[in-house]
Amino acid sequence: MDQRIAGFSRPDPVTIMVRGRPFVAHPGESLAAALIAAGLWRFGEGEDPARPRAPVCMMGVCQQCLLRVDGRLVQACLTPVVAGQVVTPA
Ligand code: FES
Repeated sequence: MDQRIAGFSRPDPVTIMVRGRPFVAHPGESLAAALIAAGLWRFGEGEDPARPRAPVCMMGVCQQCLLRVDGRLVQACLTPVVAGQVVTPA
C-alpha cells in the first residue's frame, strides 16, 4: 500500500530494482522515502538480528539508511530516485 501524502503532483513513476525485484518510485523523491512509502522499513541487519537497521533521522546524520546503489554505498535519505537504479543492502 502506498503511504505517500495524497493530493501532490509528482513526476511519472520510474522503475528501479530493489533487492532483485522491480520497484516503482517517483524520480527525485528520496530513495529512503520511496522505500518507506512502500512499507519497506528494513534497510539492513544490525549486530543484533532482532534490531534491524531502519532510517531514523532522514537528514544524513544517523547513517541507519545506508544502502548500495549501483554498487556505491549511499545514504538513502539523501539519494534521489533515478530510473534504473539497482539497490542492494549495504
Ligand atoms: S536516515 Fe539518518 S542518515 Fe539517512
